[in-house]
Amino acid sequence: MSQLPKPIQTLRTKKEAALLGGGPKRIEEQHAKGKLTARERIDLLVDPGSFEEFDMFVTHKCTNFGMDQYIHPGDGVVTGVATINERVVYVFAQDFTIFGGSLSKTYAEKICKIMDMALKNGCPVIGLNDSGGARIQEGVDALAGYAEIFWRNVMASGVIPQISAILGPCAGGAVYSPAITDFVIMEKQNSYMFVTGPKVVKTVLNEEVTVSDLGGAEVHSSKSGVAHFISANEEDAILTIKKLLSYLPSNNMEDPPYHLPQDPANRSCDLLEEIIPDNPNKAYDMLEVIQQLADDGEFLQVMSNYAQNILVGFCRLNGHSIGVVANQPRVLAGVLDIDASVKAARFVRFCDAFNIPLLVLEDVPGFLPGTNQEHNGIIRNGAKLLYAFAEATVPKVTVIVRKAYGGAYCVMNSRHMRADLVYAWPSAEIAVMGPKGAVEVIFRKEARASDDPKQALLDREEEYKETFANPYRAAERGYVDDVIEPASTRFRLIRAFEILANKKDTIPPRKHGNMPL
Ligand code: HXC
Repeated sequence: MSQLPKPIQTLRTKKEAALLGGGPKRIEEQHAKGKLTARERIDLLVDPGSFEEFDMFVTHKCTNFGMDQYIHPGDGVVTGVATINERVVYVFAQDFTIFGGSLSKTYAEKICKIMDMALKNGCPVIGLNDSGGARIQEGVDALAGYAEIFWRNVMASGVIPQISAILGPCAGGAVYSPAITDFVIMEKQNSYMFVTGPKVVKTVLNEEVTVSDLGGAEVHSSKSGVAHFISANEEDAILTIKKLLSYLPSNNMEDPPYHLPQDPANRSCDLLEEIIPDNPNKAYDMLEVIQQLADDGEFLQVMSNYAQNILVGFCRLNGHSIGVVANQPRVLAGVLDIDASVKAARFVRFCDAFNIPLLVLEDVPGFLPGTNQEHNGIIRNGAKLLYAFAEATVPKVTVIVRKAYGGAYCVMNSRHMRADLVYAWPSAEIAVMGPKGAVEVIFRKEARASDDPKQALLDREEEYKETFANPYRAAERGYVDDVIEPASTRFRLIRAFEILANKKDTIPPRKHGNMPL
């Protein structure tokens, strides 16, 4: 075999060196922590052979603290373009084997380059994060690099989907790039995110806390609401990214991908006929309702461990992506509180930005009372959900499954806030408040004056139930378009979203609204 020409040999040697990142020892250390390398992660994520890498030979320009002695081609981040299920995506993967994946100015420029390309070409950006933060030796240059990324995250928001997987450290100001992206997936074993670490917490507050208790995946998926998904391991995190992408369009000018359905559109959901308990104060699982309705029972739940009194996520109806927002009577009776309102508001805005129609399944007794909620701003935060629904121009369909009381009735995508179609099940109860509380307010004096005040209230309660604990008052006024049999709901929804497929709606021209943040 003839020898390769020298320039090609040189090229190959250079590429081989770059592919090794921080070298075999660092790769071994990475594996010993149970972590994959940046390139192994990309290989798992993208279609085989589709990755086109950019800036493999880029190096940092720092000379402080002898840094010019330590040069690694690629400089700690692998960037490029690839396909996932044949759709183009831009990807960066931070390489912990080079300076702990820390971010230099050059490294930031590599990320900015692919973000600019993604925005220009209308494709999602996926970031695989594993980094010690700003490269300390670079000082303000590293900070400048972060800010350049943040700015692009904001410009890309609502234009192309941005997804972050956190697969190692993500600390300090570095957290703000993932925070702006649409979805954050945290790997359970090795990932953490915090603005200030345990040492600073100890110094400033004299509080002892572990890394995972401060900012591990469990904390961010159940308490802070920073993470939308928690994954058992890296492979699982990558699978979640792929699943998520399957519901999303590549940009805000496209419709979400259509998946040829196997599940018949007219499938009767017989189990739904019996799911609502006779006692209106008894719970049932709204997740089951969603699974009954969805194509093949598939529902990708977002933020499943956070504010569990509301469910949000993606399903398909007759092959089309649908964003679902549903009260969950199993948790806090499905009441709306601060966390549930903010969780759902952000989801509604994501769906609206990316042309994903919204389905609301409603069973809500009202807003959660109490000083805790009031002092922490249920007024301001509840208003976010109202704002999000009112502003959304995608097709919006509501099914009132059971309770629709008070302000929560208005907020949960009511007819009056421009829901396109509103259906109710025969079990619906639509009123200002629940029967017991209501009669105590309006008939207290009358009951006190009667011989048997308790019985008088009970009688009135029955009357109130007959008047309002049904869907027909609202249907008489046209606030509910039809009262439907639960078993027919899947078919009715599929037809509803078909009818609404070409919906065009606008909001007044403005720079931006002033959501009560
Ligand atoms: C330069 C860094 C680095 C950094 C790690 N390294 N972080 N080099 N700048 N930020 C280097 C280490 O010196 C080490 O090099 C190698 O990467 C691997 O790091 P280890 O410490 O050996 O790894 P590990 O024990 O796994 O610990 C990982 C770590 C730790 C927890 C991330 O490295 C760490 O605490 N790093 C500093 C984190 C930090 O404070 N970053 C700045 C945050 S403030 P050698 O050659 O010695 O093996 C910030 C502001 C951003 O980011 C603001 C944006 C607006």
